[in-house]
Amino acid sequence: MDGNGRWARSRGLPRQAGHRAGTENLRRIIKACSEMGIKILTVYAFSTENWGRSMKEIKGLMSILERVIDQELDELHANEVQLRHIGVLDGLSETLKEKVQAAVELTKNNERLILCLAWNYGGRQEIVHAVRSIVAGGGRPEEIDEAMVESHLFTAGLPDPDLVVRTSGEMRVSNFLIWQAAYAEYYVTPTYWPSFGPDELEKAVEAYSKRDRRFGLVADASD
Ligand code: IPE
Ligand code: MG
Repeated sequence: MDGNGRWARSRGLPRQAGHRAGTENLRRIIKACSEMGIKILTVYAFSTENWGRSMKEIKGLMSILERVIDQELDELHANEVQLRHIGVLDGLSETLKEKVQAAVELTKNNERLILCLAWNYGGRQEIVHAVRSIVAGGGRPEEIDEAMVESHLFTAGLPDPDLVVRTSGEMRVSNFLIWQAAYAEYYVTPTYWPSFGPDELEKAVEAYSKRDRRFGLVADASD
């Protein structure tokens, strides 16, 4: 969800206004995903690198997460959204940690849409975390394979993403699902996240539907 800051600046507004507008947009996109039959939506909301931003901005982002949980959780639950968290809760306030955990627990049996929140998430951090947990569990080198690594990622049990959308025109992966997106299709749009509405999502899905996914194989195997 990139481009909140530039969206705000282009309107002469503070960055926090961009984050608020981005949050409003997320609400629209969650609804659109439910309606379109998309089963899993993962949103990259706070990266391990985002700790390098100003304390003011970090606090602003944390307060948005807290407000979303306080004000929107009941509606998400009523709409059968299952909230998951990927990343680590270290560094969050005790209150916020508890709120995230309670929201995950409350919604764990919902099946309409899995909303996976990447918060204090980094792909490298996730792989390090997986390796540590394998070693701590006494994993022997010869039994470590891709399936075992996958089962120790934060996304354990979820399928790999089919489509990764990056808004605001940046052609970077930025440490997002670097293991899981090995064969994902990428879609980059110059639109800033707060303006990336359901119509743009449909365009992205339409573009995705025309891709030829080969997973390293060839298109015509008859030759
Ligand atoms: C994305 O918007 C939201 C978060 C990282 C939380 P940015 O804050 O990165 O917006 P730009 O890149 O400055 O426009
Ligand atoms: Mg950015």
